[in-house]
Amino acid sequence: MADLDTPRSAYPITRMRRMRRDDFSRRMMRENTLTPDDLIWPVFVLEGQGEREAVASMPGVERLSIDLLVEAAREAQQLGIPAMALFPVTPMSAKSLDAREAFNPDGLAQRAVRAIKNAVPEMGVMTDVALDPFTTHGQDGLIDDAGYVLNDETVEVLVRQAVSHAEAGADIVAPSDMMDGRIGAVRAALEGAGHIHTRIMAYSAKYASSYYGPFRDAVGSAANLGAGNKYTYQMDPANSNEAIHEVALDLAEGADMVMVKPGLPYLDIVRRIKDQFGAPTFVYQVSGEYAMLKAASQNGWLNEQAVVLEALVSMKRAGADGILTYYAKDVARWLG
Ligand code: PBG
Repeated sequence: MADLDTPRSAYPITRMRRMRRDDFSRRMMRENTLTPDDLIWPVFVLEGQGEREAVASMPGVERLSIDLLVEAAREAQQLGIPAMALFPVTPMSAKSLDAREAFNPDGLAQRAVRAIKNAVPEMGVMTDVALDPFTTHGQDGLIDDAGYVLNDETVEVLVRQAVSHAEAGADIVAPSDMMDGRIGAVRAALEGAGHIHTRIMAYSAKYASSYYGPFRDAVGSAANLGAGNKYTYQMDPANSNEAIHEVALDLAEGADMVMVKPGLPYLDIVRRIKDQFGAPTFVYQVSGEYAMLKAASQNGWLNEQAVVLEALVSMKRAGADGILTYYAKDVARWLG
């Protein structure tokens, strides 16, 4: 006799392996799929012409000058990738305490947006709204004498930055700074300037993560930040309810999409947000995640294609509507 805890009608009537036996029935019951439509490709933009630089801590990722970036955008568009996210590598000479380069209408990010939208108008172009590429200290905002990042003063600069991106033709602005009230302020300014179609993707649940290391090398903010950290504005990795609170505020302030960052270690947060709000929810497979997968693959310890596709479909399974990944082009090719 089966013991009382065993469901009475189970095995052999129920055999879970029946559906797993053949490819056709595995495909029939597959619950989540990854397509190029799910991908947003983050890229690093350099000054100059014909410039291409490898990022040491992210093998396979390059910083590109605008002319080469436009070529890359065309390729990405042909691969079916709907959007790119631009991150400027600001020369030291353009950094300052007040981060005024952030809203320069002829800044690197603004010129890159114009060039891509001009050459590949179908490509969705997203920009990063935060001051870390433009401050001499590498923080995402303006600081006081004690080094504390000032909220409201920073939001004023972020608003000017976001409007300058919209003016350059950005389709999506993505505040990644974690200041309070910035989504509402950016939304009001965009409406006021007539940019009613500019979408906002809020980095709502952005954690103070050590997985951002390679990115800070790539944009050249690591040296500026030094031993500094972002604990007074980015979220504590130990927290979950706080992410729900952040998302609720960003949606109320006018975000069209929300984001969780990093990706794989934070999929519980993605699921909670998706279940609670049902809003377009994105996740960022960040530079450190890329670096780990790449390094293990280069050592022959992991099968790169298999493990990357597994990580990304897991993000879909957690409820993500889309994923920012440095692997976007490779993935689009693998899926193609
Ligand atoms: C800057 C910003 C960061 C990332 C995206 N925007 C770094 C940070 O907050 O220090 C990280 C992306 C990545 O690691 O891939 N506001």
